[in-house]
Parts: sequence; C-alpha cells; structure tokens
Amino acid sequence: MIFSSSQTITQLLRQRPMAVELLEQEFGYRLWEKLETHLSTLCATAGVDAHYLLERVMALPVPPADTAWDKKPIHWLVDHLTHNHASFRDTEMPAILALMQEEGLPAYPDGYVVKLLVQEFRHFQADFIKHMAEEEEFLFPKIMRNEACFRYRELGPEVFRGSVNLYLKLETHQPEEEFKRMILSIREKLRNQLMQRPTAEVAERAQAAMDAFAGRLLVHADLETNVLFPRAGRLEQELYENSVPGVFRYPGDQK
Ligand SMILES: [Fe+2]
Repeated sequence: MIFSSSQTITQLLRQRPMAVELLEQEFGYRLWEKLETHLSTLCATAGVDAHYLLERVMALPVPPADTAWDKKPIHWLVDHLTHNHASFRDTEMPAILALMQEEGLPAYPDGYVVKLLVQEFRHFQADFIKHMAEEEEFLFPKIMRNEACFRYRELGPEVFRGSVNLYLKLETHQPEEEFKRMILSIREKLRNQLMQRPTAEVAERAQAAMDAFAGRLLVHADLETNVLFPRAGRLEQELYENSVPGVFRYPGDQK
C-alpha cells in the first residue's frame, strides 16, 4: 500500500478508512468538505505536519476478524473489508493466476485446457476487481459519510449523492457470494479434467488455492451481507428520517 501526501483525502480514506479518526482529530468536520483536496495542501493550510500524520496513518492497525463489530464504529469494519479487498486483488488472485501459468506445461491437450481456464479466471478477476472498486468508490465512502453525520451536526447526509439502501437494492449490485460461485465453477471445471502429470499437479495446487480463496470470499461476503449492509442501511434510514427540516438527529435538540 502506497501512501503519499500528494493523495487526496478521498484516495487516502479509500485505502485506509481507519484514517478518518486521525484526520478528524486534526481537521474536524471540515475534512468532509475537503475530500478532493490533497493531504499536503490541507495540512499546509492547517499547520499540520503531513509527513508525521501519514506515518501515524501507516501505523494504524487493521481491525482483526474477531473484532466485536457491533461495539465499534462502522468504519472499523469498512477498514477490515477494504483490507480483504486489497489482499484478494493484490495477492490472492495474482497468486492463483501464477500457479495456473506455470512454465513448461505440455501445450496439448492438458495445457490447452488450463489455458482456457486461465482466460475464464481473468474474466472473473476483471469483474471482481470492478465490483470491489464500486464498493470502495461509492458504497464504503457513502456509509462513512453517513456515519460522520452522527458525529458532526454541521454535516448533512448528501442525499443527492445517492443512497446506501438504494444501492443495495439495485440488481446491478453483485454480492461476493456470486463471485464465490464463479470461482468454484472454475475450480470444478479444472477438477473434472483427467489430466496427466505435470499438469495434473499444477491443477491440484490451483484447486487448493481456489478453495482457500473461496473460503475467504465467503467470510468476507458474510460480513458484508449480514453485518455491514443491515447496519449501514439502518443508520442511513435513521439519518434521512431525522434530517427533514424541523427535526433533529441529536438527543436534546429542540423539536
Ligand atoms: Fe467486498
């Protein structure tokens, strides 16, 4: 993961949602009005040491899988899921591809079958990367913005920028469970081939790697579907319902 002060706040938060805590400590709610500003510019205007701030961002631990999510702010979970994405994208999928593209396999027929499955895997990979990008570029930031509205009364929910609940209801949203099915189908096709050595050994290793990957995808999908989405949906509903003129979202506010 590369962090730099020439990144915008949006780019920084996309990589490390947990950074919102440090950034809000420094810049308060105004951070949310400066999302497209470069960190260096924001720091310079506020007299903050950008280098030191980035060092603190880099040192932030990623919340572990056994975190009690319901007791933590929602951006903790978003950070964990973002970390999952990075490992799927940058480590696990390239490793499976590398396994399947081992040098020196006999070209035909086994090598040819593997080659076709490599193509299928590449399609899967491209779709999945697009899906993760959509979550990181729209869904996660929107959830975090909604959550920030509960920390700062100065912030409005930005209804015009779309809604978490609407996004989750749209058919185009393809949950990770669907991707898990895709990867298992490639794995099955590989298993159903009667291959000879050495291709058979490569195929076996690739299947094991795909199984492990599918398992992690399932855990990830479960966290999104059963923990993040319902909570983010409720949060947004509460926010929108209490944001109409004359109604206030803070306890003790006048009605
Ligand atoms: Fe995801």
